[in-house]
Amino acid sequence: MRVLGVETSCDETAAAVVEDGRRILAQTVASQVTTHAQFGGVVPEVASRQHVRDITRVVERTLEDAGLTWDHLDGIAVTCGPGLLGALLVGISAAKGYALATGLPLVGVHHIAGHVAAAFLDADEATASTEGDPGPATAARPHGGLLEPPVLALVVSGGHTEILDVDEAFHFRRLGGTKDDAAGEAYDKVARMVGLSYPGGPKVDELAGQGDPQAFSFPRAMLEEGLDFSFSGLKSAVAGEVERQRRSGGLRVADVCASFQQAVVDVLVEKAARAMRETGRRTLVVAGGVAANRGLRAALAARAAADGFEVRFPPVRLCTDNAAMIAAAGCVLLARGRCDPLTLNAHAQLSLDAWQSGRV
Ligand code: KG4
Ligand code: ZN
Repeated sequence: MRVLGVETSCDETAAAVVEDGRRILAQTVASQVTTHAQFGGVVPEVASRQHVRDITRVVERTLEDAGLTWDHLDGIAVTCGPGLLGALLVGISAAKGYALATGLPLVGVHHIAGHVAAAFLDADEATASTEGDPGPATAARPHGGLLEPPVLALVVSGGHTEILDVDEAFHFRRLGGTKDDAAGEAYDKVARMVGLSYPGGPKVDELAGQGDPQAFSFPRAMLEEGLDFSFSGLKSAVAGEVERQRRSGGLRVADVCASFQQAVVDVLVEKAARAMRETGRRTLVVAGGVAANRGLRAALAARAAADGFEVRFPPVRLCTDNAAMIAAAGCVLLARGRCDPLTLNAHAQLSLDAWQSGRV
């Protein structure tokens, strides 16, 4: 089964063709990062307009790179939420147009289900066309062998921090999540506080490697209990410390980044390990933009070895937003007979439960 995936939920216009939910035949990511950087963050209206400008070319180039025509495809998968409403609508409208013109079945994919599906792609097969900002380089081969559910998933991105149980049928059950900011959001806000440009997460990650993680003691909210997260207190504590240092004449950027990162990583690792213990799952999948974080990767790998579970990270390029993950999830859904009508709509807010049960 070959599925075209389309992803436009935020600031990447992306398309990919994936075979059997595993093999990436081609993918294109047109990043808008340099456009939004001048505004310090994603400007929704600008994102939508750029998606409109790019989407047709991105899809056509992807098919061309794969050496395929529409006749070779079995379905179209598109991110239907959550995300920026105007941005989502561009991808959905394009996907619906293609579905109508070709008669191919259409399926709407929850963005988080897509991030998790990235872990099931065969990283060795991945080829990519990247336009604009190339983003982080491909990581070394992260694992051997193809992954099968059930797994536990830690999804850490700019918009989400969630722990999900994923059963054999690729059905999601939310075990915990953030009460306020997402981990990536906290990274981006701290980056801005210390004067780093958008998107700040990778820059904080890099500077953290040069600083002392014990330099400042930042709060680790709700560390001792449950599977929920809160990062707003940490963000405020960093803001207070940065302000204090600025007043006293010198900001220790690397030490602030390292101490902040340590606080985030400690909480993510502790909660993920607790969820593994409580569910008895054997494999943890880490997905979303923050899964690219070097500190998190190292700490989770160490904890997995100590606690006796397996941890898998998609290659860095598949951790941030892309369409291969949407196509991969689409393959699973279409194979299970799920198909959406041409009335499929975009949802800025969309819970996994509402999406799974088809209540949207
Ligand atoms: O998954 P993603 O591409 O988009 C969303 O769905 O949100 O994640 C983007 C987020 C941003 O907040 C970015 O700062 C963060 O992931 N991020 C990182 C790293 N690379 C990306 N955060 C920490 N360390 C990194 N290396
Ligand atoms: Zn994402």
